[in-house]
Amino acid sequence: TTLLIINGPNLNLLGTREPATYGTGTLADVEALAADAAARHGWAVTCLQSNHEGELVDAIQAAAGAADGIVINAGAYTHTSVALRDAIAAVGLPTVEVHISNVHRREEFRHQSYLSAVAEAVIVGAGISGYRYAVDFLIEKLSPGSA
Ligand code: DQA
Repeated sequence: TTLLIINGPNLNLLGTREPATYGTGTLADVEALAADAAARHGWAVTCLQSNHEGELVDAIQAAAGAADGIVINAGAYTHTSVALRDAIAAVGLPTVEVHISNVHRREEFRHQSYLSAVAEAVIVGAGISGYRYAVDFLIEKLSPGSA
């Protein structure tokens, strides 16, 4: 009954970072929105942001036994990190990949994700509301009928 919400590099700058692409919502707004979505169903969230790939790997590993599902926006590591993909596969928790922007409408290098193949679902281009959809999806999946 806990979801781990992971945000990767540069997402600490949400609100001021390229607002035309990522909007004006802050990381605090993202985390509050995810917590509210979970709380509506009596679930809790644990939130973590890091700019460091290894810390993200550590957080995914630590989710085993501590969380029931993962929502992850790995930022640019999405497009580069075999280590994050392997960590998600290793823990085996249902995971939703979120991107605030529509990566498929952007540069070619953002079209490839190492994470999508190990994700249950991918939510792209819905803005920060994507985190809410991800939480609702995971709760419905883990606790059918409650979302
Ligand atoms: C992002 C898209 C990535 O390509 C980019 O590197 C980010 C944010 C998104 O949420 O749209 O840092 O994951």
